[in-house]
Amino acid sequence: MARIAVIPGDGIGVDVTQEALKVLEVVRSAGVDLTFDEFDYGAEKYLATGITLPDEEIENFRDNYQAIFLGAVGDPRVPDMKHAADILLGLRFKLDLYVNYRPIRLLDENLCPLKDKTCEDVNFVVFRENTEEMYAGVGGHLKKGTHDEVAIQTAVNTWKGVDRIIRHAFEYATKHDLTKVTMSDKSNAMRFQGDLWDRVFEEVAAEYPDIESNILYIDALVMQMVKRPQQFEVIVTSNMFGDICTDLGAQLQGGLGLAGSGNLHPGRTSLFEPVHGSAPKYAGKDIANPLAAILTAGIMLGELGYPEWENKIETAVREAYREGNVTRDMGGRLGTAGTGDTICQKLEKMISE
Ligand code: NAD
Ligand code: IPM
Ligand code: MN
Repeated sequence: MARIAVIPGDGIGVDVTQEALKVLEVVRSAGVDLTFDEFDYGAEKYLATGITLPDEEIENFRDNYQAIFLGAVGDPRVPDMKHAADILLGLRFKLDLYVNYRPIRLLDENLCPLKDKTCEDVNFVVFRENTEEMYAGVGGHLKKGTHDEVAIQTAVNTWKGVDRIIRHAFEYATKHDLTKVTMSDKSNAMRFQGDLWDRVFEEVAAEYPDIESNILYIDALVMQMVKRPQQFEVIVTSNMFGDICTDLGAQLQGGLGLAGSGNLHPGRTSLFEPVHGSAPKYAGKDIANPLAAILTAGIMLGELGYPEWENKIETAVREAYREGNVTRDMGGRLGTAGTGDTICQKLEKMISE
């Protein structure tokens, strides 16, 4: 049995979560033992009560749920992102979800903005370190609000943090019969951080002699992701670089409307969310593409031990796209709910066959 805590969040997070839940309901009715509890954390609650995400709730998630499904957080009425930081980064940090798993998988070659690229060419995963570096919240202001202001945002990198994400990348490659792991840093300019990443990478890579390993500076990595994406199988990088290169990766697979992710601590409660944000201008208009959220539900099912459902969901998405039964950002003719319904119908058909 898997208990799933659902936080629709803000903006289109609410719209797309509704569709992902419809799909998960089909999976549940086919006999997969899932239960869902919805939580209303987000901008509305924060503005009304000052509550973002209490520590006791995070403990509840950790102790009583196998997974958390999050739509998106971010609202123009909260310009300092206070609630979003507490909810999203709070979950990542307090549950120690050190692996941000972002697969970049092209489901149909017509979705790729690059010329002459096939689904085999764009098929790799990015492991983004998810608990350290510039996101660690270490820093501060001096003389804030004056022209002498100093702002410091410290990149925290620990041997343990770097080692465990790199090791995860090699373990993933081993488990999936992949042959190559690429690490990306910026050791030519950021000497302290880059030097640590380089040394740990070389040390861990030596334990996996059958897997080819290489290092690319982050600027070269993003250039190569566009130029020759077929060279990548597994990419591992730090938090900020991983954030940036996975938005680029999302475009390679057809846009943010198709990119799913998992924030994982193997063996513990993990968090699943589409890579996109709350896109406030599209909220509540039946426009947002729900497929990133639906594919994220698939990633979640894969991690919970039901990889066959992840495959079925991908197949349904591929078919829906080929028929034009998807949202307008993908050249389709449907709205958010219609697209969700299409995926549900396809899954129901697969179940009855
Ligand atoms: P965004 O991902 O919300 O939207 C950027 C653009 O991408 C949109 O204007 C839209 O054109 C397109 N897009 C994104 N998702 C789409 C979808 N499902 N269907 C169709 N088009 C889609 O990024 P942003 O505008 O930079 O951020 C908006 C808010 O979301 C901010 O508050 C930001 O901090 C937050 N955010 C939250 C998360 C998260 O919760 N995980 C992630 C990224 C951004
Ligand atoms: C993401 C988002 C977040 C991040 C923001 C909303 C803090 O961009 O999940 O990619 O930078 O990690
Ligand atoms: Mn991002």
